[in-house]
Amino acid sequence: MPSTRTPLSQEALLIELEPVVATNLDRHLGLAKEWFPHEYVPWSDGRTFDGVLGGEAWSPADSTIPEAARTALIVNLLTEDNLPSYHRQIATLFGQDGAWGTWVHRWTAEEGRHGTAIRDYLTVTRAVDPVALERARMVHMSAGYSNQHDDEVLHSLAYVSFQELATRISHRNTGRATGDPLCEQLLARVAADENLHMVFYRNLLAAAFEFAPSQAMRAVADVVGDFQMPGNGIDGFARKSVQIALAGIYDLRQHRDDVVNPVLRQWDIWNVTGLDADGELAREQLAEHVSELDLAATRFEEKRAAREARIAARSA
Ligand SMILES: [Fe+2]
Ligand SMILES: [Fe+2]
Repeated sequence: MPSTRTPLSQEALLIELEPVVATNLDRHLGLAKEWFPHEYVPWSDGRTFDGVLGGEAWSPADSTIPEAARTALIVNLLTEDNLPSYHRQIATLFGQDGAWGTWVHRWTAEEGRHGTAIRDYLTVTRAVDPVALERARMVHMSAGYSNQHDDEVLHSLAYVSFQELATRISHRNTGRATGDPLCEQLLARVAADENLHMVFYRNLLAAAFEFAPSQAMRAVADVVGDFQMPGNGIDGFARKSVQIALAGIYDLRQHRDDVVNPVLRQWDIWNVTGLDADGELAREQLAEHVSELDLAATRFEEKRAAREARIAARSA
């Protein structure tokens, strides 16, 4: 018999989750290691730029990093740069008081390191054009950010559970694709932070599955169905994300296998009980989204393989 619990209001969800936030905040603070962005940057490799100080202009020959990895670094950095918008969003939704407020500010402070560290690294090593980067940052941040579900607690928790893991995978694979061990070391450090963030949010939603299973299922189904990376507002994002996917840095297969499925498995999503009619419907829709994602991933892999074969034939 389907369950007929009355759905909890956004306010009630926040109150129910508060003790879970407190426990997971303690857990997070016990696990998060202090680290210093400046230690990851090879400052003595740097040279003064042109302009105010009359140094040398950036030239593409300065960068030793493959083009797709450069694109991924720019997308990842611009995504980190939009932190003020993300902060506004979660501070508005989760509030600034109690354990929620402590988390909101702590998370923001940790995320603030990421943009600083990556920008310093890219500037000192001349890995990307600093003028183009700054202009792209202005355009991107001026547009702001909001996700499709920014006034719904469980949808937002579901979104950030997937998004933090997506960001982790993207940083890690970008690091590998640079072929630069120091850059890889920095991005692995950033990726470790993203993983802890993912665990925090994933644990909150796991608790919601206990006291509001249908609402949690609805949130997960909706979010998996219309997931977009947080940097999707970046100028030229569609073209850039194809380039990143073709290079195997972040593609649909990784999205499905390394992001969506592991999180669903942690929630034991297919065995959740106590669902009402909409919760059951949401789970069916979720199953459809996951199999559509699988099909799309396979189609993309086939296209990529055909493209690689064409390129190989041309250069043979
Ligand atoms: Fe980050
Ligand atoms: Fe994060």
